Amino acid sequence: MAMAMVRVLLLVAMALVGSCSAWELKIHMPTKRLQAIDEAVAPLIHALRPLLGSGGELGSRGGVPCDSWVLGVEAHNVRDWKTVPAKCEGYVGHYMLGNHYRRDSKVVIDEALAYIDTLKLSGNGKDIWVFDIDETMLSNLPYYAKNGFGTRPYNATSFNAYVLEGSAPVLPETKRLYKKLLSVGVKPFFLTGRAEDQRAITVANLHSQGISGWMDLKLKQPGFKGSAVAYKSGERQKLQDAGYVIVGNIGDQWSDILGAPEGARTFKLPDPIYYIG
Ligand SMILES: *[C@@H]1O[C@H](CO)[C@@H](O)[C@H](O)[C@H]1NC(C)=O
Ligand SMILES: [Mg+2]
Repeated sequence: MAMAMVRVLLLVAMALVGSCSAWELKIHMPTKRLQAIDEAVAPLIHALRPLLGSGGELGSRGGVPCDSWVLGVEAHNVRDWKTVPAKCEGYVGHYMLGNHYRRDSKVVIDEALAYIDTLKLSGNGKDIWVFDIDETMLSNLPYYAKNGFGTRPYNATSFNAYVLEGSAPVLPETKRLYKKLLSVGVKPFFLTGRAEDQRAITVANLHSQGISGWMDLKLKQPGFKGSAVAYKSGERQKLQDAGYVIVGNIGDQWSDILGAPEGARTFKLPDPIYYIG
């Protein structure tokens, strides 16, 4: 515990003094200055303690802490995972239900809005923006909150039953982007891994959440056997071949935004709950 605290203090002190290394700091920093830093960062150390202490649920004893695991997921360094590590259920749950998920999503959407402001739009009705649906436009958090926040293996039966309720709430940040695109004449295009037979409930769910006016909604056709990347990039290619310009593409999975043609710019929303390759 003491060692962990010292390490945190050194890291924070390093951040405060820029390029000066922790060891230089330790040697050269006058005692009074060090005490001042100690006092200034004390609340921060307190906040970090649960992450590092062996008693904290968020910490790990010999493994990778959950915040590092999530960063690895979002950066697409951690791939092809089937379930959230069991010990991270609390961390992921707090992330999703607290402000953090919303804040992270807001950063993504703010970037997308700033990007839109730089666009020289053709105004010919051919500019489109590709949206994923699940965990992008609609949130399945009510389902996952009842089912271990991704720590349990995917259950198609129970998940599809949830989808068929048509009650998924809209993700407010993505809705902000959607409205902005409509206002500047960029047409939203939904491209989802949901199956064609879920079209009616998906449309009803979107409408109930104040989402309408899209150009088209493409669902996965029965019998399609390829990967998510193959499916989505193939559909984007069709759009491009038909003369559309994909000015933007947003999804919560890397498979939403990988595979040419990706779109002029891609945006990745957070999703530490499941992985679709
Ligand atoms: C999947 O969900 C269904 C419906 O809730 C349930 O009956 C079934 O036992 C679940 N399967 C597994 C493997 O948990
Ligand atoms: Mg999705």
